[in-house]
Amino acid sequence: MNRCSHSYVVLSGASGGIGFCLAKRLIEHYHCRVLGLGRNAARLQQIKEQLGEDFDYRVMDVTDETAWQALSKELVAIDGLIHCAGYLPDFAPVLPADDAVWRQTMDVNFTACKVGTEILLPRLFKSERPFIIGVSSIDAVAPLAGTGAYAVSKAANKAYFQLLREEWRGKIQVSIACPGVTDTPLFDRQTNLKGAEKLIHLLATPPQKVANRTLRRASRGKGLIVTGADGHLLSLGMRLCPNITLRLCRWVMLRSKLPLFQDVFWK
Ligand SMILES: NC(=O)c1ccc[n+]([C@@H]2O[C@H](COP(=O)([O-])OP(=O)(O)OC[C@H]3O[C@@H](n4cnc5c(N)ncnc54)[C@H](OP(=O)(O)O)[C@@H]3O)[C@@H](O)[C@H]2O)c1
Repeated sequence: MNRCSHSYVVLSGASGGIGFCLAKRLIEHYHCRVLGLGRNAARLQQIKEQLGEDFDYRVMDVTDETAWQALSKELVAIDGLIHCAGYLPDFAPVLPADDAVWRQTMDVNFTACKVGTEILLPRLFKSERPFIIGVSSIDAVAPLAGTGAYAVSKAANKAYFQLLREEWRGKIQVSIACPGVTDTPLFDRQTNLKGAEKLIHLLATPPQKVANRTLRRASRGKGLIVTGADGHLLSLGMRLCPNITLRLCRWVMLRSKLPLFQDVFWK
């Protein structure tokens, strides 16, 4: 039996593209029970109707510490905790920074993961084989111009779970997923894509593939899990020649002539 099988898993972002696929795979392939977290009650109820009695949910905002505390009081023991909730703000240069956007992005993508982990840790320690998966992004490995607050928050997320992995090695298994561009509603909320939709769609990996690979690698104890052709290419580039890789990304973005990318570079 591998690490994820027959587990009771708390999964944030269950109402989203990747989160739903993780829940489905956990239930149908790993025979888990999943407690999904999210704010969209109607979507969570729809998922419950689709996935059946092994899926339950709580409507909560992951940035609300009291909601995590209330959840912890409700639970006795859990085997797995997957932080998949995430927020991608509009593409923008790092300067000038919109402080409210930076705060909100850090709150969802980093602070909520830290707070939720701390609060649910005693519940995880009741399990004989506890595991955590933090969903970061390839943007944490290769920060792309225009993704400022998102890249920084995901880098903090990745570093936090990598630290946890080393400091708690042997006690709790921690994996960090770094998906490349994935075909989910994450980009639908962007108000200024300015014609980049086609490029995003072309690069995107289906969320099922991302979920399946993430769970397969995590169940084998893998630390950093990269998904998608773009993710693998960027990850390799950053290992072999980080400066050239980032310069190449800049060159491609400028050459694309997409207004979205032109706006983020100083002229
Ligand atoms: N799609 C990509 O290209 C890509 C690439 C790399 C990494 N990722 C990461 O993968 C994860 C899943 O994203 P996705 O692509 O599946 O996007 P998505 O479909 O937009 O899902 C985002 C999820 O996060 C939840 N969420 C956001 N803010 C929340 C809050 N304050 N409280 C509770 N839940 C919140 C949403 O739930 P409600 O709407 O119900 O609140 C939703 O379930 C994210 O962490 C994202 O950063 C995505």
